[in-house]
Amino acid sequence: MRTQYYTATSIDGFIADDRNSLDWLLQFGDGSGGTYDRFIAEVGALVMGSTTYKWLLDQEVYADPERPKPWFYEQPTWVFSSRPRRPVPGADIRFVEGDVGAVHAAMRQAAGERNIWIVGGGDLAGQFHDRGLLDEVILGVAPVALGGGAPLLPRRIAQPPLTLTSATVDGPFALLRYEVAHP
Ligand SMILES: NC(=O)c1ccc[n+]([C@@H]2O[C@H](COP(=O)([O-])OP(=O)(O)OC[C@H]3O[C@@H](n4cnc5c(N)ncnc54)[C@H](OP(=O)(O)O)[C@@H]3O)[C@@H](O)[C@H]2O)c1
Repeated sequence: MRTQYYTATSIDGFIADDRNSLDWLLQFGDGSGGTYDRFIAEVGALVMGSTTYKWLLDQEVYADPERPKPWFYEQPTWVFSSRPRRPVPGADIRFVEGDVGAVHAAMRQAAGERNIWIVGGGDLAGQFHDRGLLDEVILGVAPVALGGGAPLLPRRIAQPPLTLTSATVDGPFALLRYEVAHP
């Protein structure tokens, strides 16, 4: 069981642009060559911050308010927010706030042998790293620069550095995998 931060990013380190848009990413469609499908099959629990959750609601679930789409993750999902958030009927979504440590323990229990996916954003992934709970960073680096937006991982992680374990071409993306040291 590993705790993984898997995200697409621009080459200048942003996971959304300064309008919280992913148009720069969606232009590539599902061009990841099956990487995502293999990844999600090993995921037992997900966690995300409220901006990411709101994006999924606005752009996917309620994109057409007349015809809401079902929540597409079968795994239990934890959403961090300091405010009440709109639930999705029938979805296993748990709203939490504060320290990520206790939530991680609950996620571990739910995930069993499978992995925990930190969907984003970057600071939330950083909170897991701060607690020594982040094992792996997996980046699909899109061939774009954004000049600003939501940061990929706003932390100083330099000594020890991350360990690059894999670098492959994945359609238009560079797929980079890094292990996080646990001193
Ligand atoms: N490129 C990709 O593949 C990818 C992947 C994921 C996300 N994204 C996008 O990237 C952007 C990320 O947005 P973001 O940087 O704002 O990050 P985010 O993690 O999605 O949301 C941050 C918000 O989550 C809440 N939060 C975080 N930690 C918390 C804690 N410990 N306790 C309580 N609440 C907490 C806070 O909001 P409140 O307390 O005010 O609710 C905080 O402002 C989104 O636009 C998303 O769509 C892109």
